[in-house]
Amino acid sequence: MAGTELFGAEERKEINDVMETGVLFRYGHDAIRNNHWKAKDFEAEVKKITGAKFAHAMSSGSTAIAAALAASGIGAGDEVIVPPFTFIASVEAVLFIGAIPVFAEIDETLCLSAEGIEKAITPKTKGICLVHMCGGNAEMDSIMAVVKKHNLILVEDAGQAFASSYKGTYTGLFGKAGSYSFDFFKIATAGEGGVLVTNDEETYKKADVYSDHGHSHIGAKRGMEEHPFLGFNYRISELHAAIGVAQTRRVPGIKEKNRHHKKFMQDLLSKNKSISFAKLGDESGDSATFLNLLLPDTQTTQRVVNEFNAAGVAGFDYWFLNMYHFINQWDHLKNLQTVSKLPAQILERSQDYNTMTLPKTQEVVGRLISFSIKCSWTDEQMKELAASIIACVEKATKPVNA
Ligand SMILES: Cc1ncc(COP(=O)(O)O)c(C=O)c1O
Repeated sequence: MAGTELFGAEERKEINDVMETGVLFRYGHDAIRNNHWKAKDFEAEVKKITGAKFAHAMSSGSTAIAAALAASGIGAGDEVIVPPFTFIASVEAVLFIGAIPVFAEIDETLCLSAEGIEKAITPKTKGICLVHMCGGNAEMDSIMAVVKKHNLILVEDAGQAFASSYKGTYTGLFGKAGSYSFDFFKIATAGEGGVLVTNDEETYKKADVYSDHGHSHIGAKRGMEEHPFLGFNYRISELHAAIGVAQTRRVPGIKEKNRHHKKFMQDLLSKNKSISFAKLGDESGDSATFLNLLLPDTQTTQRVVNEFNAAGVAGFDYWFLNMYHFINQWDHLKNLQTVSKLPAQILERSQDYNTMTLPKTQEVVGRLISFSIKCSWTDEQMKELAASIIACVEKATKPVNA
């Protein structure tokens, strides 16, 4: 929740710029907008942090990932490898562009593993929707080797991993296109918003047109623009973009604090031998929005969760039982319950979502407890939290007759 912790005068200033002109639309109205272009400024701030050649702001992380998949050339009937541990938007985006999600195993990075991806490949596999979970990053060297070997299209959902990098390259920029979410719960928020990034000009142009009903954005008369292909309305408003501008400027400072807090907590928690931590592809690129604990096994972890609840320890997620982040609870997805028919329901699928097994993922997510890191934490608060966590873990791991 770092972005929302720091909401203040800078955000109000950017919003007021828009309110003063009343131009809430990101395109045109040049004469009356007093030279305020908040969506463009938001994109510039994202490019500054990530080094992306192109960025396009949209209405949400969900629409940005859908546009990234479509603009990368993935569509009806294509199989796309996805993780079973993600926010469900990544899977919905694959389904709603007409493609077929195929689930593969994650590893202790909390992201798809190269081994998992390779095992899930079929003759119909067109691409991968790789999700960088919990502020971290996947093991990109081995994943890129599989992408190249099988000539796959890589699209990255870095919805939770804005400002995270792997060996100097920012998440979202390893494949054709990537996306970040700026919803209310991210390192920076626009209220609602998402940004697509890519280093490929053609993919950027397609995303730009696709996310605005096929408008080419060439020429001064919106109604008379060319429409090279069909699209839909995934536009961001100037008000949301204005908040995104101010918030994105805060991200380097937030990241520094988060990283300090994560290390501080890990140093304290490492004293308990039952506690270890999720891995990162590259630790030095962590955006550190989450402190991800791994406990010895699922049963112990569930006992720890019970102890947390009894002791009033707050601010954590046990994703294994979470309705929107883990496949075990996605009955609507497993049974493909939809309001209207999707291509995935009428095409042959190589995976039965109800009978497939993903033992490595079950094992990792069963052992995982994630705490949201607050950039406003004080040393005293962290010491208190770490002591409570350790006390609960000790209780949960104590031999029964001790
Ligand atoms: C990994 C991931 N992808 C996509 C999204 C969707 O983003 P939004 O809420 O902005 O649509 C989220 C949101 O939590 C997410 O965590």
